[in-house]
Amino acid sequence: MRHRHSDYMHWAKTQGSARFNLATSGVAAFPLRELPVTIEQLEINGDSSYGYAPLQQAMASKCEVDPDCVVAAAGTSMANHLAMAALVDPGDEVLIEQPTYELLTSTLLYLGASVKRFARREESGYALSAAEVRKALTPKTKLIVLTNLHNPSSALAAEPALLEVGDLARSVGAHVLVDEVYLDAVYTNAPKSSFHLGAEFVATTSLTKIYGLSGLRCGWILAQPDLARAMWQLNDLFASIPAHPAELLSVVALQNLDKIRNRSRKIVEADRAVLKEFLDSSQEVSAARTEFGTTAVLRLLNGQIESFLARLRDEYETTAVPGRFFELPNHFRIGMGVDSEMFREGLRRISLALSS
Ligand SMILES: Cc1ncc(COP(=O)(O)O)c(C=O)c1O
Repeated sequence: MRHRHSDYMHWAKTQGSARFNLATSGVAAFPLRELPVTIEQLEINGDSSYGYAPLQQAMASKCEVDPDCVVAAAGTSMANHLAMAALVDPGDEVLIEQPTYELLTSTLLYLGASVKRFARREESGYALSAAEVRKALTPKTKLIVLTNLHNPSSALAAEPALLEVGDLARSVGAHVLVDEVYLDAVYTNAPKSSFHLGAEFVATTSLTKIYGLSGLRCGWILAQPDLARAMWQLNDLFASIPAHPAELLSVVALQNLDKIRNRSRKIVEADRAVLKEFLDSSQEVSAARTEFGTTAVLRLLNGQIESFLARLRDEYETTAVPGRFFELPNHFRIGMGVDSEMFREGLRRISLALSS
């Protein structure tokens, strides 16, 4: 039977929220009233056949690429789906990091890929290791998939490791798909997209997580022009054309991106400082420390995780994402960047639940 669902997405949509919601992964929603746009700038219909030209140009400028390398998609979700559907035939061997974002594996299973894993090890802070990729690689590998920043840990992949993974992919004629939806949370010395590292790299991203603009569904793929053209054509089977008002708003958002990103940066950084205090003083959990990102994954050192998370929800009105969705059964993921008071109180409640 073909895989036709996502357990994680279902959970997130039905059970993620709570008064103290630490089951988030993106920053606080950016309000429309703060976007410098008037109703006169909006229109319902427009010329969006293979991309709305001003939006194509805005995405390309942000990424310092040619517009021919940009394929627009509804969020990173559809960008990932479209990229993988263009690169993978049923039965193709695909290597994907473990742990990872569940939607990536469920989409690969839906596409009929033969999914193999390479480890991102907790003991090395979930670092991307080319040696682990090499161990799993075979001459049949068609695609290598990873997230950067890593979901759930937020580990930043080192450029030499990415380059080595690119070399490995090239040696067997494979591509590397890097989901970069969290990469813009690197606020200092931000790396460019891995698309710039070599022709085998395909990158996906959106304005969702780090800009609080999920509702615009402004996502895209960076790929070499011939591959990008193939993706546009495949997209005719999926989405045909996007919602034009969202394209117009996305152009304005891209013109004001620094302002939008800085709005939540303070919250993300304040939450990270609170998390550090919490981890420094906690005997009950451990976590890989990271410098950037909106998520952290914590290991519960004693006790049963599902009953802990149920108690956290029922008695302390606080949610976190169960690690089972990342194949980390003794862990839970928490999110930063929404509301510092909520985050601090959520952590306090986690401490209470841990010690009761
Ligand atoms: C790694 C990763 N990719 C993609 C997405 C979805 O992004 P979007 O909301 O832009 O579709 C998420 C959401 O949690 C994610 O964690």
